[in-house]
Amino acid sequence: MTANTRSDDPSVDLDDIGTNPTSNPSFTDLIASRLSRRHLFGLGVGTAGTALLQACGGGGGGGVAFPVLPPAPAPAPPAPPPPPPSPAPIKLNFNAVGKTLADAVAVPAGYTASVLYRLGDPIATGVSAYANNGTDAGNTFDRRAGDHHDGMTYFGMNASNKWETAAAARGLLVMNHEAITPVFLHPTGQTSTGSGNAAVRTVADEVLREFYLHGVSVIEVNKAGSAWSYKQDSTFNRRVHTLTEMTFSGPVARTDVLKTKFSTDGSKTRGTVNNCANGTTPWGTYLTCEENWAGYFRRIAANDNVNRTPKEITAFGRYGVAGTGRELWATVTPDTPDNLYGRWNTEVLGATSADDFRNGANTYGWVVEIDPFTPGSTPKKRTALGRFGHEGACLGPVVAGKPLVWYMGDDSQNEYIYKFVSTKAWDAADVGGGIAAGDKYMDDGKLYVAKFKADGTGDWLELKLGINGITAAYPTYAFADAADVLVNVRLAADAAGATRMDRPEWTAVNPKNGEVYVTLTNNTARPVGGTDAANPRSYNDPKGVAQTAQKGNPNGHIVRFADTGGDPAAVTFKWDVYLFGARSTASADVNLSVLGADNDFSSPDGMWFSQAAPGLLWIETDDGKYTDVTNCMLLAALPGTVGDGAAKTITNVDGGTTGTQATFVGKAPGTDGLRRFLVGPVDCEITGIAESGDGRALFVNIQHPGENTVKSDIGDPTKYLSHWPQGGNARPRSATVVITKDDGGLIGL
Ligand code: FEO
Ligand code: CA
Ligand code: CA
Repeated sequence: MTANTRSDDPSVDLDDIGTNPTSNPSFTDLIASRLSRRHLFGLGVGTAGTALLQACGGGGGGGVAFPVLPPAPAPAPPAPPPPPPSPAPIKLNFNAVGKTLADAVAVPAGYTASVLYRLGDPIATGVSAYANNGTDAGNTFDRRAGDHHDGMTYFGMNASNKWETAAAARGLLVMNHEAITPVFLHPTGQTSTGSGNAAVRTVADEVLREFYLHGVSVIEVNKAGSAWSYKQDSTFNRRVHTLTEMTFSGPVARTDVLKTKFSTDGSKTRGTVNNCANGTTPWGTYLTCEENWAGYFRRIAANDNVNRTPKEITAFGRYGVAGTGRELWATVTPDTPDNLYGRWNTEVLGATSADDFRNGANTYGWVVEIDPFTPGSTPKKRTALGRFGHEGACLGPVVAGKPLVWYMGDDSQNEYIYKFVSTKAWDAADVGGGIAAGDKYMDDGKLYVAKFKADGTGDWLELKLGINGITAAYPTYAFADAADVLVNVRLAADAAGATRMDRPEWTAVNPKNGEVYVTLTNNTARPVGGTDAANPRSYNDPKGVAQTAQKGNPNGHIVRFADTGGDPAAVTFKWDVYLFGARSTASADVNLSVLGADNDFSSPDGMWFSQAAPGLLWIETDDGKYTDVTNCMLLAALPGTVGDGAAKTITNVDGGTTGTQATFVGKAPGTDGLRRFLVGPVDCEITGIAESGDGRALFVNIQHPGENTVKSDIGDPTKYLSHWPQGGNARPRSATVVITKDDGGLIGL
């Protein structure tokens, strides 16, 4: 739970906060009888011959007729034809980039990284170039690039302005703007008075900037020669931000818990915030995911709890809705007639929910669908996918006649992994159907949470009233109805007994076999006595002299699983740990993937499978643990399959505490299977990735360079921790870079 504001403490990692008080880890599983690993992995994934394609985060898809897929072949033909010839295996073909602390973007020899779209860049005619000194007027920021570029998709666009995945030189680049680095947005950082609960923002124009700097960008991008640029006057350019009106759909829409002064029937809200990773649909829309939304709301518990039911107080605690609001948006006075500022106060202030924003926090925490090809369309919050700290929503295999599936992580300490399976079966006739197609597939389905078992298998537990302990008799929280379950999915997953994970960030699906990968970025709340098979490490990672030792699982790992029979609607799976982050110099019980100088990393976060080069996986880091040695990075990987490694029992040592833990470690990648491709500037996160329709341009987001610069140093540019991308004495800016190979080839290969 957090009550900090970003202006008070910019160094706090707002993801690295836990509000899960349960003891759900599967300790009992640890002593459960074990099936033979050989037997389990001898079964194969059962997907051979099945068309499996997806494009979750980055979209694109070189030459892939992505949405138009044949149905799965009939099972067990009496005389199966010989298997089709395997395509030639792909190989990583670049010299690894060395670890570096330089304030620059480093890519391999033979590649060029160019800056494409920076914080503040204008996306409409008549908007001036960004001054980058805090003086740009607040009311221009609805037509400027937002801050903290994050999850991103390239939608190829043809000459008829329609979605065409293979379009190689023109597309809509849609990206999230997760948060802000306040120190650089205003003349001298955020202006406020008072402290603690009495702190208030005093310059409304600064707050207006911040409202617009969150959300999503849609920009048209074009290639001329070998150079990419965005088109400032494109009619497709659009910003979606915290003021954009949105509607609700699915089971929670129009229920009491969404009623506010803005929408007395609970049908709509304003805005989206903390948009982290992303997702796509097979009909050509974009999904943006609301992650650390809870901290934006003001709710002083000492004032508000007296007006709340015990259930409401439990729910606020489980989601961390408490404190002043991280940017103090609710404190601006006077408020506007439409409560532009006051809406961020989610305390009980009026007589009924029609008089205040007591339910304001319930209107965030959703997956939001945006149709980038229809600039005037109203985004929709899809409540059937549940309310939590949504990191991303990766679309699984798309097969005509089969349900659609999205895999989702909830990024907070000890939170869970989810999937949503549509009731309706996929019909390729819905390609281009826009938000209406979303109504068909995303408003009705089953929501599941993952339980990883010690024998290398797992269960998907359905989150539905009346089953898996989700009842009015659940002691912690008496569930009332379907909407109550979806709004409080974390509590429902607690009741079901889901496995507490080491902060689930991005999900990615291998287009070659449908296997699902999930980054577990790190977890400082994983004691030696609290490990389990899927979250097996707890150790002390010594940092540099000036830095604090990191405990728990400081470097993170990537778990992967295969739904049984290759069926995304299956309710069981098998799993292993594909990769463990570590310093190459760490002990064998920590460096379990045997990383070396060319591929060691820490805190995996963004992750995406190329569509142009099936089997090529991109891994991005958001690290604060190995940063005494290197800035954050992007690595290229060629992973194998679930079960390609071995069972292993490791010894955890954290201070004076020692324990053993059995797990399943994927095959060590070596440099043929994992290689560092890019290192970013100082104090940044690498996140968001997409490729052009032919895979010959890779778009990568550089988020918050120099973000730990302190407000008191704003007057002295020599103390800025980064000046990227402009250099000199400039303030740093989040930005999209586009990477091309000098010979015009596929990236990384
Ligand atoms: Fe926004 Fe969990 O990263
Ligand atoms: Ca992330
Ligand atoms: Ca992160």
